[in-house]
Amino acid sequence: MQESIMNQNAALTAALSVKNGRPMTYHVATFGCQMNAHDSEKLKGILMASGFVEGSEDEADFIIYNTCTVRENADLRVYGRLGYLNGLKKKRPGLKIALCGCMMQEAHVVEKIRRSYPFVDLVFGTHNLYTFPELLNRLLKGEKQIIDVWEDGAGEAESLPSVRNYTFKSGVNIMFGCNNFCTYCIVPYVRGRERSRRPEDILDECRRLVSEGVIEVMLLGQNVNSYGKNLEGEPVSFARLLKEVAAIEGLERVRFMTSHPKDLSDELIEVMASTPKICHHLHLPVQSGSTGLLKVMNRRYSREAYLDLVARIRAAVPDISLTTDVIVGFPGETEEDFADTLSLIEACGFDSVFTFEYSRRTGTPAASMENQVPAEVVKARFSRLLETVRKTGQKAVSRFEGQILPVLVEEKNREEGLMTGRTEHNILVHFPGDDAMIGRILPVRLESCQGFYYLGHICKE
Ligand code: SAH
Ligand code: SF4
Ligand code: F3S
Repeated sequence: MQESIMNQNAALTAALSVKNGRPMTYHVATFGCQMNAHDSEKLKGILMASGFVEGSEDEADFIIYNTCTVRENADLRVYGRLGYLNGLKKKRPGLKIALCGCMMQEAHVVEKIRRSYPFVDLVFGTHNLYTFPELLNRLLKGEKQIIDVWEDGAGEAESLPSVRNYTFKSGVNIMFGCNNFCTYCIVPYVRGRERSRRPEDILDECRRLVSEGVIEVMLLGQNVNSYGKNLEGEPVSFARLLKEVAAIEGLERVRFMTSHPKDLSDELIEVMASTPKICHHLHLPVQSGSTGLLKVMNRRYSREAYLDLVARIRAAVPDISLTTDVIVGFPGETEEDFADTLSLIEACGFDSVFTFEYSRRTGTPAASMENQVPAEVVKARFSRLLETVRKTGQKAVSRFEGQILPVLVEEKNREEGLMTGRTEHNILVHFPGDDAMIGRILPVRLESCQGFYYLGHICKE
């Protein structure tokens, strides 16, 4: 069904190419998390199968923004860019503009687009991404402003074409949505309830990727540790799935994100410790170091439980790289709460901490809490947080100085003659090399730690 529509689209696109005397081009801009980035690979696949080739934003015939709404500045960036797109469209009347992704799942956003951005040609949401071939078809046939956003999912399409951003590594969705309802977070509202994909489908996809040359997969979900809870038939834990993925011949590295601390099992720790292909990196968002605030955030673990978890992980996997997310200025955050966050960061030895100022998201419980923290207090705490993160991060990352570690070479560095790769700990290393190394795992000596990354040299075996 999807395939025949895409063939039809390709015929319509081919006719336009003949008329214009050049190929029709697309541009996909992605905002937000790894899951959105992975969705964008599917959008690109559909556009390719529909006869478009990739082009820059300045010249493309079809521009689509895959949006994020987790914090207000993500929304503001999209609105800002829309003004620019309107200008482009005036110069190039044939240009089609589409918006999709998490922001489109919010009624007030769609209303605003309908009212104030009439030049947007197509709007759809996260639940009907797989109907993009049909929506594109209607657009190619001349329909004007199509808005089609669903309240929830009628299932996910299992076999959409995709254009991978890298040939040697790929994300793989293992679940969609989230049931946790942390009180600050909009994700459960825009991505819907948690759904796990069937293990056979995940394993098939991983095997197919490996047969296409992929050596590293990243299993994706908002809370991978609760994988399998809503599957029919015999339950499958995340740890078991991970073990089965790692057993695929030809696959070299397995990563996953994100882990919610409340659901991280001893079984997972054991599997990480005993399965060499599973990378020693764990992104374990803590959000706050204060038990009181964690409770109001509905995170369902205490400071002590988090510290205990970190200690158990470190005991089982001593070289583990831990990274986390922290929110500053959640409603009601006191100076003491904030001090608890700083001391937790100092105690945990994170390699990096992603820091966010609390952003009020319409419709979430925290948005209507009365004790919002004044902006200047948030700003001041944020700078103190950055200072702590810089110091502790540098200290943690430098623990590898002088070691020779396997590095997956990913791309050319901006600096002439240098390549960039990652250790299994997700630490970036820049070293002299050439394009032929891309996609290979090579031994690199991590010579000097430059804060969050290393400079090094390849070691001859
Ligand atoms: N599912 C993941 C996180 C997804 S959102 C998890 O539970 O850990 C990524 C990060 O954005 C969160 O970890 C949180 O730190 C941040 N975030 C989410 N909502 C936010 C908000 N309203 N304001 C500021 N930061 C927020
Ligand atoms: Fe948001 Fe919490 Fe779900 Fe993560 S676990 S996506 S922070 S609601
Ligand atoms: Fe943003 Fe949606 Fe991801 S809101 S963080 S793109 S799930």
